[in-house]
Amino acid sequence: MKIAILGGTGVFGRGLALRWSKFHEVIIGSRDKKRAEEFANNYSRVAKKYYGNEMKGEIIGHDNLSATEASEVVVLSIPHERLIGFIRSLKPFITIDKIIISPVVPFDKDEKCYKYVPFTISDPQNPSSIIQVSAAEVISLELGSRRIVSTFHTMPARKLCNLGLKLDCDALIASNDVEAVKIVSELISQIPNLRPVYAGSLEVSRLLESLTPLLMNLSLCHKNIKEPSIKIV
Ligand SMILES: NC(=O)c1ccc[n+]([C@@H]2O[C@H](COP(=O)([O-])OP(=O)(O)OC[C@H]3O[C@@H](n4cnc5c(N)ncnc54)[C@H](OP(=O)(O)O)[C@@H]3O)[C@@H](O)[C@H]2O)c1
Repeated sequence: MKIAILGGTGVFGRGLALRWSKFHEVIIGSRDKKRAEEFANNYSRVAKKYYGNEMKGEIIGHDNLSATEASEVVVLSIPHERLIGFIRSLKPFITIDKIIISPVVPFDKDEKCYKYVPFTISDPQNPSSIIQVSAAEVISLELGSRRIVSTFHTMPARKLCNLGLKLDCDALIASNDVEAVKIVSELISQIPNLRPVYAGSLEVSRLLESLTPLLMNLSLCHKNIKEPSIKIV
């Protein structure tokens, strides 16, 4: 499968690229093609060293738009502050067949704690009123696509990057598209000891995204809780 990781030069993109390149063609996207190629070469060296002959896929670099065009699955691994402008620039390249994965978590921190800060937009049903929506819902509204799968919010990038680490956690999923959930669940299952767990429609993404600041607050309160993740038992 061809998977584009846009903003794949960040730590979260690195983790996914290292994990999925064992089986898939991963395209690292960046605003700067040369930077994407440099990061892809670096990730590729790490992955080949770890997987050896078991590595069936590869990692290459491209600008974000070419990476999107070339892929079946597109991961939006970019900061929440840039999300709306970014997806608007992407829209002409998102055909209806592409699956979009959103790990995006809109959050903020004040002097006391981390907070979930959903997007504030005018209500598409009633433009004179303002509503709050998750990152995944913003993506869906902007792109007009049903194939949005919201997941990975509680998966710390550093754990994904550590190929020798046994993850033993869950990736909760929110989406309105049954077929896309099936495909993304298979991709998640290919990451050893990471279990996909469907949590409901895209609206549920608000709850999933808000788990990340909760986990970050746990780390703030407890020195011995580092890079916490979620497992449903
Ligand atoms: N880090 C984690 O542990 C973690 C865990 C779960 C979910 N997430 C989510 O995953 C996403 C990526 O996280 P990250 O920590 O990897 O983020 P990051 O390092 O802050 O950013 C990722 C990449 O986004 C690109 N970028 C930055 N500003 C941009 C802009 N204005 N327009 C377009 N691209 C821009 C950059 O790539 P170029 O400069 O190469 O274009 C950057 O390398 C976030 O939405 C985060 O909420 C992160």
